[in-house]
Amino acid sequence: MADQSKLIMKACLKRRNGKARKLQNSLLRWYQGNHRVLPWRSNPTPYRVWVSEIMLQQTQVKTVIPYFNRFMVRFPDIAALAEAPEQEVMALWSGLGYYSRARNLQHSARQILERFSGKFPQKFEDILALPGIGRYTAGAICSIAFNQQQPIVDGNIRRVLTRVNALRVRIPESFFWDQMKLWIPAQDVSTFNQAMMELGALVCLPSDPHCPKCPLLHVCLAKRLGLQNSIPSARKKQITQNIKIAALVLEQKGKFLITPLEKGDFIPGDWGLPYLKIMPGMAPEEVASVLCRKVLGRTIPLVSCTRVHHTISHYRISAYGFCSPAFRGCKPIEKARWTSSTGKLLVSSLFRKIIVNYRKTAATQEES
Ligand code: ADE
Repeated sequence: MADQSKLIMKACLKRRNGKARKLQNSLLRWYQGNHRVLPWRSNPTPYRVWVSEIMLQQTQVKTVIPYFNRFMVRFPDIAALAEAPEQEVMALWSGLGYYSRARNLQHSARQILERFSGKFPQKFEDILALPGIGRYTAGAICSIAFNQQQPIVDGNIRRVLTRVNALRVRIPESFFWDQMKLWIPAQDVSTFNQAMMELGALVCLPSDPHCPKCPLLHVCLAKRLGLQNSIPSARKKQITQNIKIAALVLEQKGKFLITPLEKGDFIPGDWGLPYLKIMPGMAPEEVASVLCRKVLGRTIPLVSCTRVHHTISHYRISAYGFCSPAFRGCKPIEKARWTSSTGKLLVSSLFRKIIVNYRKTAATQEES
C-alpha cells in the first residue's frame, strides 16, 4: 500500500476512536427502534446464527427467509443436519445456489458431532477451523450468539465505514477490521454488530443513502463533505456469461432419464437431465442429436419441446429442451437413472423448470 494511504488509514482510526462511545450509543438506540424482525434474530442460538449467515452469503434476506424456516423445521439442530442424507440437504437448498455452502454446512455439522459431542464450539479458532467458515462467519457466530467481542466486516459494514471516513483511496481489508475492533463495545456486541449491518442494509444504501435518518450522521465525513453519493465509487460488476445448452427430456413411466453431472459443473447437484453446451455456430438440434448418441448409443427422433431461461450465479442459461414423442423407454449406455421430477436427485431448479415446461407443452398438444 502506498505510504500516503497508510497515513490516511492511521488518521481515520485515531479520529473515529475518540468518538466510539457516542457512536455506539447512537447506533444501539437506532437499532432498537428500527431493526427488521427476522427469523434468525429470535432465539439466536449458534446453530441458527450459523445457518442463517451461510445462507445470507451471496443471497438477499427476503430470499433466505423461507429457506431458513424450512431448514429449521427439517433440521432443527446440529444432529439432525449431520445425520440427514446429503441429497435431502441439497433438496432443501435447491434454488439458493452456491451449493458448496450446503455441503460444507453438513460436513461441519458432522465434525461438531464427532469432535465436540454435538455442542457448538465457543472458541473463535475452533469455529474458524470448520469447513466453509471464514473470519466473517466465525466473528458473526461468536458475537451474535455468544456476545464475544469479535468484529465482523461484510459488504454493508464496508460501505458504512467507507462513507464515515470519506475514503476515496484503495482501502486494504485490514482497515475495516481494525476500525470495527476499535468500535465494538465491551457489552452489547451482538446488537452492535447486527446494528452496523442493519444500518448498511436500511439507511446507508449503495445509492441515495437516507442520511437524515442515520444515527452516524454526526460523525460521517462523506456527508459533511457532501460526498455521500459518490463514496464509495461504483465497483465493476462481475461479467455475466451467456450459455446455451441442449437438454434431453426422456420420460418413461412418469420418470425422467438423468445422468451424473461432472464435478465442478456450474450446475449444482450430482445428477441432472442429460445436457451439452451449444458452442457458437452449432444448432441446438445438432447438439441434441450428438447428446442422444452419447447417452443412448443411437439416435432417436427428437423434437424441440421447450426453451427455458435460468440464471445460476453469473451464468445466464438458455436451455433448449428436446423430447421424443415416440419414446417408449430404452437402456442408456452411460451411467444413468430414472427419477421423478420432484425427486431429490434433481437439485437444480434449471432441470425442474425444463420438465415443468415440457409437461405444459405436452398438455397443450394433447388438448388441441
Ligand atoms: N446479512 C448478513 N448477515 C445478516 C444478518 N445477521 N441479518 C441481516 N442481514 C444479514
